[in-house]
Amino acid sequence: MTVPVLTFFNNKSGVGKTSLVYHLAWMLSDIGYRVLACDLDPQANLTAAFLDEDRLEQLWDEGVTTTSKTIMQCVQPLMKVGDIQPPALAEIAPTLSLIPGDLALAGFEDTLSAEWPNALGSSDLYRPFRILTAFSTAMQNGAKQMDASIILADVGPNLGAINRSALIATDYIIVPLGADLFSLQGLRNLGPTLNRWRGDWKKRKDNWTQPEFPLPDGEMKPFGYVVQQHGVRLNRPVRAYDKWVNRMPEEYARNLLEDTKGPYPPTPAQDEKHAFATVKHYRSLVPMAQEARKPIFHLTTADGAIGSHAAAAMGARADFAVLAQKIVDKMGEVAGWQ
Ligand SMILES: Nc1ncnc2c1ncn2[C@@H]1O[C@H](COP(=O)(O)OP(=O)(O)OP(=O)(O)O)[C@@H](O)[C@H]1O
Ligand SMILES: [Mg+2]
Repeated sequence: MTVPVLTFFNNKSGVGKTSLVYHLAWMLSDIGYRVLACDLDPQANLTAAFLDEDRLEQLWDEGVTTTSKTIMQCVQPLMKVGDIQPPALAEIAPTLSLIPGDLALAGFEDTLSAEWPNALGSSDLYRPFRILTAFSTAMQNGAKQMDASIILADVGPNLGAINRSALIATDYIIVPLGADLFSLQGLRNLGPTLNRWRGDWKKRKDNWTQPEFPLPDGEMKPFGYVVQQHGVRLNRPVRAYDKWVNRMPEEYARNLLEDTKGPYPPTPAQDEKHAFATVKHYRSLVPMAQEARKPIFHLTTADGAIGSHAAAAMGARADFAVLAQKIVDKMGEVAGWQ
């Protein structure tokens, strides 16, 4: 049995993917799940959210070591003649660990691109598959080490080879959407790309009739979307916000689910099946939480969360608890997971 991998994906940048992974990883851990977070974005923003600079410097400057403390250090031997190394997890809390990201991961992109056609070849399939499934192997190995029941992955905003491998390792995708044209336009690229990746991966799997190690299913099932309020410019009229938000149910259904018939719910609030939540704009709590290197809902008076800030932090706790529980419930419905 593999541990389910949930990836937050939209090729539009700045829609709040990393922030969602960070907060949900904490919340799922707070409500009793064992969580592995994995940073597969070479920008490594998730890692910077979890770890302070001293720890980051140690991880990234370590060079050749006997333990693989970042995702790049795990996969690096594959770029020569070696095999993937198990990740040394960074413990964040007793039930929450991280496979740290690495700015150097960008250097793996060309290797992944080069091996993609090779997986359709007729000989020496071990190596291309070992490389293309490296993220899956690292994440599943990490999950086993800590007995995790769920893996959350953060990826960068593009449709490149690193993300293709991240998605091959993914069971469920949640799409964060901002209320603007770009976010919805992003869906029009995302849907067809996911279909293509799914089909191309299946072809490759079928080509390796006797795999020598377990291969991920590459289901990358669209699991739903989250509406993000924070991208909205404050001086924009409410009507423009509503216009884009209310187009989300249709655009999501058309592009991610290939449902071109409808009818489509008129608002995300009425799209219970696919809209997980509207995540509020947390304004000044965001820099406060970043400074304290904590999720918003862990802020205390000692961090400066007093008065209305304290109330907003409590509100965030309630909102993220609901969102986490919805995700857990849906995974239970879809996959019998608990
Ligand atoms: N709910 C929120 N309220 C206020 N600000 C937010 C919220 N969510 C995210 N942000 C801010 O928006 C910016 C972008 O968020 P984030 O880095 O999570 O997006 P991303 O989709 O991961 O970006 P990228 O595509 O570059 O990886 C960050 O500065 C973050 O602090
Ligand atoms: Mg990000």
